[in-house]
Amino acid sequence: MPLVPIAPADDDARADLRAFLAAADLTLAGLDSPTPRLRLWVDRDAIGTVIGSTGYELSADGAHALIRSVAVAPSARTRGAGSRLARHALADAAAHGARHAWLFSRRSGPFWQKLGFTAADRDALAAALPATHQVQLFRATGQLAREVAWSRPLADLRPTSP
Ligand SMILES: CC(C)(COP(=O)(O)OP(=O)(O)OC[C@H]1O[C@@H](n2cnc3c(N)ncnc32)[C@H](O)[C@@H]1OP(=O)(O)O)[C@@H](O)C(=O)NCCC(=O)NCCS
Repeated sequence: MPLVPIAPADDDARADLRAFLAAADLTLAGLDSPTPRLRLWVDRDAIGTVIGSTGYELSADGAHALIRSVAVAPSARTRGAGSRLARHALADAAAHGARHAWLFSRRSGPFWQKLGFTAADRDALAAALPATHQVQLFRATGQLAREVAWSRPLADLRPTSP
């Protein structure tokens, strides 16, 4: 099924995504206070069950994108869905002008390395994306010091001028 963007006013889709991300043990930061800089998508199966999600949040100047909420239902993993979901967020962020992608991941570093990410300084991430929901949450709770950051330039994904 095609990825469906979650509209800010779509409370049902937001609730579905919240339950899906909670099951995947990913952060729910910001899901209840949508902003135009936070974009999220879900993938559903034929009966409407969420089987994948992806998204990102832009910095205020639009130059940086924090990739987030990339998850695949356990039964659908290791068949390329996660890479497709991640690439969707990266390509959309690049198309909207972002030059650099960042993310937090403690468990899935090798997955992100296959997508071109390298280890990054978590404080550099927080400095580039200070207003994002995840950075604000992790700063407030002290979790930032325990997080693992990754980054990737987006130059290869930026649309070329005709
Ligand atoms: C991480 C996740 C999205 C990967 O989804 P997936 O559909 O299994 O990913 P893919 O099939 O596209 O895997 C691409 C490659 O990464 C590897 N890979 C996937 N997850 C990995 C992990 N956690 N650790 C190491 N390698 C991993 C795959 O083996 C595959 O390698 P290959 O190209 O050599 O075959 C999925 O495991 C998941 O939802 N995890 C829980 C949520 C999460 O941690 N999300 C990331 C933080 S935002």
